[in-house]
This record gives sequence, C-alpha cells and structure tokens, in this order.
Amino acid sequence: MKVLVTGGTGYIGSHTCVELIEAGHEPIVLDNLCNSNPESLHRVAQITGCDTIPFIEGDVCDENVLHEVFRKHPDIKCVIHFAGLKAVGESVSMPLQYYRNNLLSTMSLCRVMQQYGVKKIIFSSSATVYSGDNEMPLRESSKTGNCTNPYGWTKYMCEQILRDIAKADPEWSVVLLRYFNPVGAHKSGLIGEHPNGIPNNLMPFISQTAIGKREKLSVFGNDYDTHDGTGVRDYIHVVDLARGHVAAANYMMDHPGESVFNLGTGTGYSVLDMVTAFEQANGVNVPYVIAPRRDGDLATCYADPAKSRQELGWEAQFNQVDMCRDAWNWQSKNPNGYDA
Ligand code: NAD
Ligand code: UFG
Repeated sequence: MKVLVTGGTGYIGSHTCVELIEAGHEPIVLDNLCNSNPESLHRVAQITGCDTIPFIEGDVCDENVLHEVFRKHPDIKCVIHFAGLKAVGESVSMPLQYYRNNLLSTMSLCRVMQQYGVKKIIFSSSATVYSGDNEMPLRESSKTGNCTNPYGWTKYMCEQILRDIAKADPEWSVVLLRYFNPVGAHKSGLIGEHPNGIPNNLMPFISQTAIGKREKLSVFGNDYDTHDGTGVRDYIHVVDLARGHVAAANYMMDHPGESVFNLGTGTGYSVLDMVTAFEQANGVNVPYVIAPRRDGDLATCYADPAKSRQELGWEAQFNQVDMCRDAWNWQSKNPNGYDA
C-alpha cells in the first residue's frame, strides 16, 4: 500500500522507508530537510534496489503542499508522521518554534487527510510523555504529563489532539507509538544518524568520541540510584523501531480508534554499560569523564513492551552488541554523515 511518510529523510524515517519497501509497501516522502539530507533516500533506494523513492520537498505545516501531495497520490492509504523538531535543549530556548512546528504540522496534516478521506495515522511519540514519578517499567497506562521541556509537551499535546480526532470520528485510526531510545543504524552502514553540531544524545556522542571527533564523553552523573550510579535507559535498535511501524501500519487497517504502544526492548542499560559494550563490540576506546547530572534527567527509564508484543505481534530482535556494532559501522563509513 502507499504510505505517506512525513519526515522520511530523517534518521528513523529513512530506516522505516527501507522496512516498508521490504514489506511490499510504497513510501512517499514529504520533508522540508530542516534536519536531514535527501541523500538518505538515494541510500534507501540502494539498499532496497528501488529506482527512486518519491520525494516532495515541503513543509508539513503548509496545507497547500499537503493538498498537492494528496492530489498527486490519491491512493495514499495511511500516513506515518515523523516530521518534527526533536532537540530537548533547543526546545527550552526556542519554545515557540517547537510548539508551532510540531503542533501545526500535526493539525494541518490531519485537516488535509480528512478532506481526502485518509483517516489512518501513526504518530511518533516518545517515552518523554510519561510522568517522572512512575514506577518502572513504563506501561502504556502509566501516568503521563508533567513534561520537563517544551519538546515533551508538544508530544503530549499532539497525542491529545489525535486522541480527540479519533473520538470525534470513528472512521479514524490513530496509533501513538512511544519510542524509547533509538540507536544504531542499518547493517549496510549506508543510512544512520548524523546530528548537527555537538550531539545531545549518548550514542552519537560515543561514536564521535571513538572516531576522534570529540575528545571525551561526559557521563552526566554517577550518583543515581542505579547499579553503577549512571542513568539507565531502554536503547532500541532503529531497525527494530522501524519494523514496529510496519506492524502498526498493518494493525491499523482493522483497528479503528486510538491505540498507544511502547516501542522499547524492556531492558535498561546504564551509560557505562553502553560505553563498555561499544568498546568491546568494536575494539575501540571511548575516553570519558564523570560530569555533573544533566538537568531534567531521570535515573531510570525503560518500557514494558508486552502490549506491543501481544497486540502488534512485534518484538525487538536486536541486542546491545548489534546496536553498538551497527552504530560504529555507520559512523566509521560515514564520518561526516551524508556530507561528502
Ligand atoms: P530527524 O530530525 O532525523 O527526522 C525528523 C525529520 O522531520 C527531519 O528530516 C526534518 O527535516 C523533518 N521535519 C521537521 N519539521 C518538518 C516540517 N514542518 N515539515 C517537513 N519536514 C519536517 O529525527 P528522528 O530521530 O528521525 O525522529 C523522528 C520523529 O521521532 C520525531 O518526531 C521525533 O520527535 C520522534 N522521536 C525521536 C526520538 C529519538 O531519540 N530520535 C525519540 C522519540 C521520538
Ligand atoms: N548522557 C551522558 N552523556 C551525554 C549524553 C547523554 O551521560 O553526552 C546520558 C544521559 O544523562 C542519560 C543517557 O545518557 O542518562 C541517555 O541520554 P540521551 O540524551 O541519549 O537520551 P534521553 O533518555 O535523555 O532522551 C532521549 C531523546 C528524547 C526522548 C527520550 C525517550 O533525546 O527526545 O530519549 O524516548 F524523549
């Protein structure tokens, strides 16, 4: 089936395009390239043996662009909505840009989808919507809200908007996917994550330190109540995450209404666990120093993925070694990402 993938040239979107094509679907990508490079789609074509991936450069907030897409592709059956700004720290300093981009894109998209009778959407949500005072593991029914930054609130608010749309019109099918910590890259090393500037997230920072672009990793806090004092997260291989979207796309065909699923592995690893695993899997050194805690960080965050397993029939297949090996394969083959 034809699937509109907003934000499809980005990190998770490009991996999802590969998995969609391999499952026999046809992605059509809409992206304004504010945080990505269209080279990713050439690489997706290379991996999958497709001639080209249909691509429209445009802003999802712009309804004229959306009309153009749906007019040109009247057989789109569902939408996977990745497009969004995602840097937590930046959202604190530029809240208006985050609320405008992430909310307006979601609302414009749904308005235009409704006009063309396309009422199936998968939304990229995040574990960040869960309230910090929950017990672990996090279940879909765990408490949400009390977000610590504007980025988190945009995800929380978009979830609510989509939930209300599904409630008002029973023909809508809305799947909210709450991602835990996506890492790694496609095994080919052709696509992966290339953050602009200094990486905020742990794994790209580890990879860039291993390759010598960064002098050392700062480990944010070693006095948390965890097995080694450093923060624990549920890292999930991006290819597993991408396959979760294919499972969700199949699921939504006969499940109208709103559904919410965690996409995580259910296992938490600490920062130092990840450093050691990366060094051992790849035979490299990752120098680090212990630094103060980062504002807003939790000690521990991991999923209960049982609902996804039972209802989507999806479960993560890749382990920590796979994540570290594939992250390094991408980093070492593409030290400057998609830039030559
Ligand atoms: P990414 O930045 O690589 O991809 C997002 C894409 O959306 C980019 O290609 C960007 O150019 C595009 N985009 C942004 N605003 C747009 C707009 N208005 N119109 C058109 N295109 C636009 O990020 P990613 O890691 O692939 O994340 C994809 C989605 O998953 C995002 O919504 C993000 O918030 C969410 N998410 C990511 C993580 C993570 O750790 N990577 C965790 C939880 C949720
Ligand atoms: N960390 C370091 N040093 C670094 C970067 C991170 O020690 O340079 C630590 C953090 O303190 C934390 C762990 O590594 O303990 C993971 O941090 P990330 O920044 O990689 O990930 P977060 O769990 O903070 O947040 C990520 C995304 C959010 C998303 C969340 C849940 O950045 O957008 O996962 O999905 F909401």
